[in-house]
Amino acid sequence: MTATEVTIAGPRPLRGTVRVPGDKGISHRALLSAALATGRSSIRGLADGDDVQRTRRALELLGVRIKSSDPTSVTVTGSGADGLREPAGVIDCANSGTTMRTLAGLLSGRPFLSVLSGDASLQARPMGRVVRPLRALGAHIDGRGDGELAPLAIRGGGLTGTRVELDVVSAQVKTAVILAGLQADGFTEVVERAPSRDHTERMLRALEAPVTVIDGRTIRVEPGTPKPFELEVPGDPSSAALFAVAACITPGSSIVIEDVSLNPRRLGYVEVLRRMGARVEAEPTGERLGEPVGRLVVAASSLVATTIEPDEGMIDEIPVLAVAAAFADGVTEVRGIAELRVKESDRINTIQQELAQMGVVVETKADALTIRGGRPRPAMFKSHGDHRIALAAAVAANAMPGESTVRGWQSVAVSYPRFADDLGALAGGSAS
Ligand code: S3P
Repeated sequence: MTATEVTIAGPRPLRGTVRVPGDKGISHRALLSAALATGRSSIRGLADGDDVQRTRRALELLGVRIKSSDPTSVTVTGSGADGLREPAGVIDCANSGTTMRTLAGLLSGRPFLSVLSGDASLQARPMGRVVRPLRALGAHIDGRGDGELAPLAIRGGGLTGTRVELDVVSAQVKTAVILAGLQADGFTEVVERAPSRDHTERMLRALEAPVTVIDGRTIRVEPGTPKPFELEVPGDPSSAALFAVAACITPGSSIVIEDVSLNPRRLGYVEVLRRMGARVEAEPTGERLGEPVGRLVVAASSLVATTIEPDEGMIDEIPVLAVAAAFADGVTEVRGIAELRVKESDRINTIQQELAQMGVVVETKADALTIRGGRPRPAMFKSHGDHRIALAAAVAANAMPGESTVRGWQSVAVSYPRFADDLGALAGGSAS
């Protein structure tokens, strides 16, 4: 069980080496690809949070055999999409938007009934964005408000490939269409307004599934399956961003983050931190199933404000970058982030509320944040049930002189249950 609150007495300089949990997005995709393959795949270093466990349990309910020595190392015996069976009960995706949306795509190709449900936060998040393109391929999907909200009831099968232009920039939705396209007759094209993260395309291409990237925004899919594989999941860049910011803003810090995905579409935060004057270096070490991997080397430095533009491709890192901005000199603007309003919490509001606890002034617009950096002071934070808000608050707490508490800490269980321990280990290794 994850503690319901943590208290951190800062500042605690960070020193040494850390390995973050496997990337959450790559973990979901590895499980889905292994289920679609025919034969045995072995995946190590899976993200250990609840979200990825939800995808695993859903696949087990669909008849996929998954064995594990511990939750992060699994052997998956796939029998192709045809081997999936109608689930006996409702599939509970809990807090995981990636589970619900990617499964909606997978199940759109299957000629049986599946019902996808989730917790109160997920039931309030937009699902029309994934339902509409899947209906365009021929899937029968119903949900509250004509498919705008979960629970979703899917009766799939008999799909016909078509060209789908997505109205939101979302890797989850793109992945859903690709997974449906692999099971459709003819070819499917999915076109994005701007490029979202591309883990699905990289992995499926590496596994020889018929997925072609035509240009940065158009992906062509033909019927087919990936081959079985072995994978050690690279570390999650969004988790690495937590330590990178913590090291930047806590004087005396100097750390190495080992074995993390260096996918260019996930590294916008490194560029932003550099612009703010941070000392961050990315050192590539290799590639795994199409994903560049390497280490990040980060040392403390004083930060200055910047402007973050929408085309920098960051979503999940904004809460912790807002913390960096709170410790920077000057006024930071974050633009074009309307999507943050429909994440695990309305992050534009929750970032404003939690930075205000530290005495930092934040102005909000429908799709933007303005943060006046200064001298944040210790605070009593709330997670608002959102793991990324709780984690970002702990990063701030680590840097401030005095004691801060994060309430609702249990929300970190969905992505990084042992974050407080890993942060404490780097702090304990410090010379101070
Ligand atoms: C994810 C995509 C992003 C991200 C989420 C995980 C994925 O959401 O915020 O945490 O694994 O595909 P969008 O689909 O809204 O881009």
